[in-house]
Amino acid sequence: MEIIIKASVAEAQDEAARIMAAQIRTKPASVLGLATGSTPIGVYQLLAEFHRAGRLDFSKVITFNLDEYVVLTPNHPQAYREFMRQHLFSKVNIAADRIHFPDGLAADVPAHCEDYEAAIRRVGGIDLQLLGIGSDGHIGFNEPSSSLASRTRIKTLTPRTVKDNARFFPHANEVPRHVITMGVGTIMDAHACLMLATGESKAEAVAGMVEGPITADLPASILQMHPRCKLVLDEPAAAKLRRAEYYRWIYENKPIWQRV
Ligand code: PGA
Repeated sequence: MEIIIKASVAEAQDEAARIMAAQIRTKPASVLGLATGSTPIGVYQLLAEFHRAGRLDFSKVITFNLDEYVVLTPNHPQAYREFMRQHLFSKVNIAADRIHFPDGLAADVPAHCEDYEAAIRRVGGIDLQLLGIGSDGHIGFNEPSSSLASRTRIKTLTPRTVKDNARFFPHANEVPRHVITMGVGTIMDAHACLMLATGESKAEAVAGMVEGPITADLPASILQMHPRCKLVLDEPAAAKLRRAEYYRWIYENKPIWQRV
């Protein structure tokens, strides 16, 4: 895992956006796995700015979002499809038929989940998967105890995640309890992963993920087994890493040809 510690949230977002932009420039028909939540908003803003400035073309990009709430209508203000429309898709030149989401309204959820996996396979897999991390160590919505080999399926959120997400809803009892999420195994199949984590509320999960044992109790820890995973942090999110100085040393001494 490559750990990149930046001085501020803005610098961390900038680094993550530059890594994503480099992916799209290197392979214009990139398949991107995308994440929602408050963390990636700044990254999407920067990607939209690069596009507006004529420096980034999304016309060939294909996207698959990690997860979607079950039972929220697609245009519900908190549906992740709507989140992505607002923060990225309405601001870049990506065609609607290249955008994919789990369908929280699917009548046959298991069949839909298999179709989602098949759609990812059909385009050759995800080139770069953007990830956040939950304060309980989830990736996608793979909560603690999720099988580390899991595929796209329905999950019940933990009370802690429901509480974390309540800030986006008028009342806590409106937060959906169920989601459809790519599995941990689905995420691990991505050719590369990029996690962005900022703020002290993530410090414990980040330390467990990087320096703790690989365990379904902290699903993000499986990323230790991913051969191409970058983790971009701000200082507060990195505060509990024992080897932070070493990670900084590695980054500062990176060969020029390895830099973005
Ligand atoms: P956040 O969510 O970006 O809103 O903190 C991250 C996650 O739950 O994966």
